[in-house]
Amino acid sequence: MLPKLTIRVARDEDAEAILQIHYAAVHEFGLRCYTQEILDEWSSEVNSIRIEKLRRTMIENPEGELWIVAESNEQIVGFGLIVPLNNELRACYVSPASTGKGVGQAILKELESQALKRGVDFLQADASLNAEGFYVRNGYSIASRGQHLLRSGRKMDCVLMRKYLS
Ligand SMILES: CC(C)(COP(=O)(O)OP(=O)(O)OC[C@H]1O[C@@H](n2cnc3c(N)ncnc32)[C@H](O)[C@@H]1OP(=O)(O)O)[C@@H](O)C(=O)NCCC(=O)NCCS
Repeated sequence: MLPKLTIRVARDEDAEAILQIHYAAVHEFGLRCYTQEILDEWSSEVNSIRIEKLRRTMIENPEGELWIVAESNEQIVGFGLIVPLNNELRACYVSPASTGKGVGQAILKELESQALKRGVDFLQADASLNAEGFYVRNGYSIASRGQHLLRSGRKMDCVLMRKYLS
């Protein structure tokens, strides 16, 4: 576990750190399972347009998303996202420098606890193949295998993982 790991609800000013972690994690871990073209589409370089778009989404929050961040030494080292209305676990990403130290598991536990508090009895994630083992290790089962259709028309293999909460 990292020193003084704390988890809190994300604020819109965390948008840039969230996007930087997303970019770094996708490009560090994704190459095991996907081509560079797919990774570039999954997470393009962080710029002011992306940051502003995410900030606006977090403020307006049309889907009722719950964003959380994990911090160590006042630095954001990971983030997670659920959409309780859809039973959806939409994201769990950890900075490559902080991986393998329990951050992902701590984020997942907090998301599951927040989901339960909102009356959500299961969560499911359309997970990337490189994260499949992480979800299995944390009690998720494979519901089905499928593909995301990316904007370019490329297809990205993914796996629907589900966990009943209690
Ligand atoms: C997957 C990810 C969130 C894991 O975060 P992490 O902080 O390194 O994970 P933890 O240290 O909390 O690991 C918890 C447990 O899961 C295991 N684990 C972590 N990643 C794993 C993987 N890819 N495959 C198999 N097991 C994994 C760990 O070994 C650990 O097991 P242990 O308790 O027996 O030691 C992180 O590597 C990441 O951000 N990956 C890229 C982003 C991504 O694809 N996210 C999912 C999008 S759907």
